[in-house]
Amino acid sequence: MTKSMMILSTLEELRSARASLDEPVGLVPTMGYLHEGHLSLVRRAVEECASVVVSIFVNPTQFGPSEDLAAYPRDMDRDLRLLESLGVDLVWTPTPEIMYPNGYQTWVQVEALTDPLEGAMRPGHFRGVTTVVAKLFNSVQPAKAYFGQKDAQQVAVIRRMARDLNFPLEVVVCPTVREPNGLAMSSRNAYLDPGQRQAATVLYRALSAAKEAHEADERNAEALRTIMRETLAAEPLAEMQYVSCADYDTLEELDTVSGKALLSMAVFVGKTRLIDNMVLESKAVA
Ligand code: PAF
Repeated sequence: MTKSMMILSTLEELRSARASLDEPVGLVPTMGYLHEGHLSLVRRAVEECASVVVSIFVNPTQFGPSEDLAAYPRDMDRDLRLLESLGVDLVWTPTPEIMYPNGYQTWVQVEALTDPLEGAMRPGHFRGVTTVVAKLFNSVQPAKAYFGQKDAQQVAVIRRMARDLNFPLEVVVCPTVREPNGLAMSSRNAYLDPGQRQAATVLYRALSAAKEAHEADERNAEALRTIMRETLAAEPLAEMQYVSCADYDTLEELDTVSGKALLSMAVFVGKTRLIDNMVLESKAVA
């Protein structure tokens, strides 16, 4: 007989249910409004772990003052149906009061890695992410935790935090899931109207153009950034915030691409801010 999925809110309920889960336990942290990208993480966790916990928590501390937390899309009933159909054991849906009770004043901050890119555009964002993810790790105590490559800097920052704070778990990074037209799956795509949705494929086109140039042995990082800028500029509905060609590990901007590198960008399509990235693996140029 299949077990029914537990849906719990309080920390006490979580802790007592956690004790009865078969090991190893996999955790998929989410903010809900699940799409194929999240579901690919859940499927991988179900394949690799004896038990799977999914957290759904729209974390207020990772939203800036100008970012609309209240408007973040939510659909708990649909999320729960999807998770149950994938064989998830436990869904934890804490409230903001459970995560940040009165008097809360403890934060987890990764330093240099959070300075550039998303960190520069969204001050305080990663402090909110690392704090809530550390709390999720402590509460669920998973052997493996699953994140999407779509949020490349988030992945780098969480891996750094897990190493630096000795969390006894493996951070598993899963590939970006894309629509057939290349648009990376994101909860924020829900804000796009049909015309904007089409325009938003320019992120994929810009990244692909730079990646192709790299495959044709272009190693000048500024030339790759220029290709991305020019592709974005040709789409009237898109407004570039940044493009980057950075070292994969340190996220520092490169002059020359020699090892593993990250192409990334943030672009407004209408009022919706979209991010996307591709990894470059350099073979030695003869
Ligand atoms: O990627 C997200 O959805 C969030 O940043 C995370 C990791 C669930 C933390 O709130």
